[in-house]
Amino acid sequence: MTAAPEARELTLEVRHKSEIANGVFLFELRAGGGGQLPPFTPGSHITVTAPSGQKRRYSLCNDPAERDRYLIAVKQEASGRGGSLSFTREVSEGDAVTAEPPENEFEMAKTEPKRLIFIAGGIGITPIRAMILHCVRQARTNFMLYYFTRTPTMMAFRDEFASPAFEGKVVLHHDNGDPDQAYDLWPVLEQQRGAHLYCCGPRGLMDAVRDMTGHWPDSAVHFEDFVGASAPHADDKPFEVRLAKCGAAYEVAANVSILDTLRRHGHVLASSCESGTCGTCRCRFTEGEVDHRDLVLSDDEKKREIMICVSRAKSPTLVLDI
Ligand code: FES
Repeated sequence: MTAAPEARELTLEVRHKSEIANGVFLFELRAGGGGQLPPFTPGSHITVTAPSGQKRRYSLCNDPAERDRYLIAVKQEASGRGGSLSFTREVSEGDAVTAEPPENEFEMAKTEPKRLIFIAGGIGITPIRAMILHCVRQARTNFMLYYFTRTPTMMAFRDEFASPAFEGKVVLHHDNGDPDQAYDLWPVLEQQRGAHLYCCGPRGLMDAVRDMTGHWPDSAVHFEDFVGASAPHADDKPFEVRLAKCGAAYEVAANVSILDTLRRHGHVLASSCESGTCGTCRCRFTEGEVDHRDLVLSDDEKKREIMICVSRAKSPTLVLDI
């Protein structure tokens, strides 16, 4: 028998599903019986339960003034075998999905800055789109969007942002996976000049933007990286990670992830989100106790697997099956 949803959970109907970029699916979700949904503010997300049972967190990308639907864009992370794969493959139009009501950890500042700079990489456009639509509705024109993907076909909402409505407000750039072709943001970020910055994207992009805005006031820079899952905890401690197959052992410092520790020692490991949400860095472990901090693994999988981009060890030593 299926357990009844918790009282605070919403039952949403998938009214529309379409692939809007390579491997990126847009879902329109409406209240099961019609009517209004709980309100949300720009930058909000909902946590949905995929058919696999995994909970995944997706930013709402529609105009927050729309009270009768939520739009989420889900990137299919084929290599991760995680919730996004289940959601994009197994959820169809007409299906019901459960979700927790909107929460916002990427709020826009209440103050009115002189300028707004939005920087989005890949699927990081989703909360940024809601912010931009909010600005447009308020007739605010003092913003610029810098939106980057590897190729044009990977760019969700490309036609919209390339349309005359956004002329002079949007820079779209593709680096074809070549770091030498990355867009140079330094001229944009060198001087703050009263701007507030909102950035969402892959860890590499956000780290680069953080580095370039180190001289900005903290209150003027805003990042969405699903920090609930990935932020270091104040009481994080070092521990030892051992690799069962090669016998190597390394200390994982309190402020460094297992993934980064192994890379620093020359191990080549796949990753994508580096925030515990995509499933790409999944590893098996054979000994030790894990402090799971991801949004990917089911309770059963947590008994033997770990997402090494965010999770750590509670035990002094953790043995990975790699
Ligand atoms: S969960 Fe995405 S790289 Fe670790």
